[in-house]
Amino acid sequence: MRIILIGFGNLGKGLARIFVDKADFLRKTYGLVPHVVAVADERGAAMDENGLNLSKLLKVAEKKSVAAYEGGKRGKMALEVIEDMEADVVYELTPTNIKNGEPGFTHIKRAMLTGKHVITSNKGPLVVAFGELDSLARKCGVEFRYSASVGGAIPVINLARRLLAGNEIREVCGVLNGTTNYILTRMSTEGVPFEIVLREAQELGIAEKDPTLDIRGIDTACKITILANSILGIDAKLEHVKVTGIDRISSEAIRLAREAGQTIKLVGVARRGSLEVGPRLVPFGHPLAVGGTLNAVKFELDLAREITITGFGAGPQETSSSLLGDLIDIHRTLGG
Ligand SMILES: NC(=O)c1ccc[n+]([C@@H]2O[C@H](COP(=O)([O-])OP(=O)(O)OC[C@H]3O[C@@H](n4cnc5c(N)ncnc54)[C@H](OP(=O)(O)O)[C@@H]3O)[C@@H](O)[C@H]2O)c1
Repeated sequence: MRIILIGFGNLGKGLARIFVDKADFLRKTYGLVPHVVAVADERGAAMDENGLNLSKLLKVAEKKSVAAYEGGKRGKMALEVIEDMEADVVYELTPTNIKNGEPGFTHIKRAMLTGKHVITSNKGPLVVAFGELDSLARKCGVEFRYSASVGGAIPVINLARRLLAGNEIREVCGVLNGTTNYILTRMSTEGVPFEIVLREAQELGIAEKDPTLDIRGIDTACKITILANSILGIDAKLEHVKVTGIDRISSEAIRLAREAGQTIKLVGVARRGSLEVGPRLVPFGHPLAVGGTLNAVKFELDLAREITITGFGAGPQETSSSLLGDLIDIHRTLGG
């Protein structure tokens, strides 16, 4: 399969490493040989119609743009590469922008319009224009996969859409943001105040320098919007989600909860007629009472009743599990 990677940050590099490490496994198990023919970052692109040497490219990209690879080009090259290179699949792995979905939105549309299947982890375009992209994919006859956009490594969307397909999903709720879960877990287990845990989380690289989207619940609201669209079939927008963050949670509230055998979690809930994100009391031992940076998602279903899955919601290697799974799935769909 001929592949274009747009965005070569944590995930792009992580995925390239997995392509190298799992080359034999993919070929032997699925007959899948990923030929990465182009990689673009914000500063340039590397291209080779015969397939880039990913180990070399990863070395180059340790310090420089991918444009420094032999024959690479400088400048904003993503659209040019998507249009000009012959490829089966475009991975869109650029930063999430929830205002207008760009640059990912335009990248995805251009890929579909030029007949390429799309795999993305980028929440921006999905939150801004899920319906438009979903119908464009159908119109263009291409596959569109976004497993990594919610839950990182946890197969939330595929579990719901495939294995639970015979059920009516009454509600999906979950702990969907690792940063806030880490903060709340440490506040609960160690009694440390919010500001101190946040600062330490930033020092450890668990929280972003600007953690606003996480702690105000916006990141979780994005994921709830994507789940509402993709598995509940609701034409939901981010502004339809009622959001409360965790920035006002006091050590005292956490202590009182603890004394009552409960912990406080930032929980997103999607059901028909109501989309919400906010701090919720969760009893210790409840499936959503996961610790540290873990995520958990619980489905309420008419037949299976309740199913909860737990796992790592972020990280380059963990999220590659979903990004690679989407590729294998497209390969199988196309009869590979
Ligand atoms: N990291 C995770 O664990 C995780 C998990 C799930 C979902 N996600 C989502 O997946 C996406 C990628 O995450 P990440 O952690 O890999 O982000 P990242 O490390 O910030 O990397 C983003 C990459 O996109 C490139 N880029 C930015 N604008 C571009 C443009 N106009 N054209 C081409 N490339 C452009 C950047 O180029 P430069 O290198 O030149 O700056 C960089 O290589 C984000 O939307 C994120 O929210 C991440």
